[in-house]
Amino acid sequence: MLDIELCGIKMRNPLMLASGILGSYSSSLNRIAENAGAVVTKSVGAEEREGYRNPVLINYGDGFVNAVGLSSPGAEVFSKELKNFRGGCPLIVSLFGSSPEEIAHLTSFFPFADAFEINLSCPHAEKVGLAVGSDPTLVREIVTYVKKSTSKPVFAKLSPNVNDIVEIGKAAEKGGADGVVAINTIRGMSIDILSRKPVLSNISGGVSGEAIKPIALKCVWDLYENLKIPVIGVGGITTWKDVVEFMLAGAEAVQIGSAHFYSYKLFFSLKESLLAYVRKNEPLKEIIGMAHG
Ligand SMILES: Cc1cc2nc3c(=O)[nH]c(=O)nc-3n(C[C@H](O)[C@H](O)[C@H](O)COP(=O)(O)O)c2cc1C
Repeated sequence: MLDIELCGIKMRNPLMLASGILGSYSSSLNRIAENAGAVVTKSVGAEEREGYRNPVLINYGDGFVNAVGLSSPGAEVFSKELKNFRGGCPLIVSLFGSSPEEIAHLTSFFPFADAFEINLSCPHAEKVGLAVGSDPTLVREIVTYVKKSTSKPVFAKLSPNVNDIVEIGKAAEKGGADGVVAINTIRGMSIDILSRKPVLSNISGGVSGEAIKPIALKCVWDLYENLKIPVIGVGGITTWKDVVEFMLAGAEAVQIGSAHFYSYKLFFSLKESLLAYVRKNEPLKEIIGMAHG
């Protein structure tokens, strides 16, 4: 009753672990995979990358601000770590890089992945993420290259920190993306009034959690209206009602990140609540986009 098929990937429910959240080690992915529809790994680049020094994350009350800085062990080491993933659900590997060639080459390290997600949207790392994801021509080229490098579905993860997210979504679609993921975090910061200094070592970061839900929902709505490929919704989803809201707006599946910081059994409880919802209503796949006229 909760099952969906996303670009040929069969999922037992539409709940996906968002990239970067509990996602660097197979042990945590294995635990989340017990109840998830799919898991997305932390974004990985070609070389090892240290990221920023602490503090990299703060819970400010209505959500989080983070600037982890895309820390990554590098593709070769990460592919070895992911061999310990037991495969309880589909595995999607998130990739970042600074050029089409560099990102496309990364797919060769992960032949066991069920799909790839391209991080075109991290707001706080130089030369990667949003730095390449705000130019429609480059986005199209990156997606074209990645699609040529693999037969697996490719999703483009978009940022709301651009002039027009639909323009970037259309560029990804023209490049051959199988779906778009919206949204990554939104630029923000936090200042400690006692020390009178920015909290994060990087000064600014990306806002996630409850506070960004209406922004993410509007992005999903607009992308659903203007694109033909599936939209995966992410941003501030915390309760089963949020999941239903995103699907009504047009999301075929949803990703959840920050809410995992509140509960280790989140997917289990969301799944149970959604089952209660569909018993009284129609299967989830039938409500996708229903809020549109
Ligand atoms: C600590 C942290 C690390 C993240 N790392 C990544 C990452 O490596 N790649 C990526 O595409 N998104 C990353 N994100 C963004 C999330 O995947 C997600 O798009 C964003 O947090 C909004 O969803 P949420 O409100 O459910 O957390 C990160 C978010 C947080 C809070």
